[in-house]
Amino acid sequence: MKKLKFENGDTMDAIGLGTWKSEKGKVTEAVKIALNNGYKHIDCAATYGNEAEVGEAFKEVFENDKVKREDVWITSKLWNNAHKKEDVIPALKQTLKDLQLDYLDLYLIHWPVAFKPDVKGPDNAEDFLSLEEVPLFETWNAMIEAKKQGLVKHIGVSNFSIPKLESLMQDTDHTPEMNQVELHPYLQQNKLLEFCSKNAINVTGYSPLGSGDRPDEMKAEDEPSLLENSVINKIAKKHGASPGQILIKWSEQRGTGVIPKSTNEGRIKDNLMSAGYQLDKEDMEEIAELDYHFRYVNGKFFELEGNSYRNIFDD
Ligand code: A2P
Repeated sequence: MKKLKFENGDTMDAIGLGTWKSEKGKVTEAVKIALNNGYKHIDCAATYGNEAEVGEAFKEVFENDKVKREDVWITSKLWNNAHKKEDVIPALKQTLKDLQLDYLDLYLIHWPVAFKPDVKGPDNAEDFLSLEEVPLFETWNAMIEAKKQGLVKHIGVSNFSIPKLESLMQDTDHTPEMNQVELHPYLQQNKLLEFCSKNAINVTGYSPLGSGDRPDEMKAEDEPSLLENSVINKIAKKHGASPGQILIKWSEQRGTGVIPKSTNEGRIKDNLMSAGYQLDKEDMEEIAELDYHFRYVNGKFFELEGNSYRNIFDD
């Protein structure tokens, strides 16, 4: 499997286990299955509401010493209600407590969007803070401090467009080490990938399988299916792989991280096996044709009447 490299020589396995939407009652077992079957990369976030259950798996697996903490890459993300400089490290410490860890490998600003501290999910415009009130570089400076304190090894962002990365980089000499964004054949984001590559920013793709299990209110009625796409299915047949494996392999082969979510034992194992396939030039060319800049996670849920957030992805 490909590994993503960081400036200090650290590496992250390209394929990790996603935990967004993983139910509390299933995620402990899912993480244990993953770690006991070769996964070395687990992606978490405070807002997924299941970090304590993920932490139970870490405790059990690391305690029995078959898998070592230092051999696993663990990512988490700062929620939007802790962007103020005084709130970042306390939020990170809560995540470390829930995950039962001393440090994270990677901590990301989850969205370029700020809420008031007591707001988990916003109901109206009053629940937000504008980026004038809490500039992203204020949050970023607190992330740098967290790294200096040794609470996290690497810091980055998520859902940042090129203009947002550029403005952050203008205000700091510490470039984000990762940008985690939605990536799949319908949203290939070649310009963003090129920008990140030029600036030594690694990229990880979320929703690689189209996140079919996300809440109905986040779904468009007529949204396309990646897993049922005829080109993906044709290529899967050709290689004796499943459509999911082809989607995961495509991401890994492009050199990005990829974090398919599953709580199903068979699919958790199959998804890691994706690395063993090889897509040829013709497959990659056919998949390149599928791009039409379609987002499953379109960020519209942050655009509430009366607040300052519009076109979050700047596209
Ligand atoms: P399950 O957890 O039952 O395996 P994404 O990673 O894009 O958010 O997609 C997650 C969704 O895809 C979940 O519904 C998950 O269900 C399903 N899934 C995970 N792996 C596969 C696979 N290899 N083939 C088909 N569906 C999959």
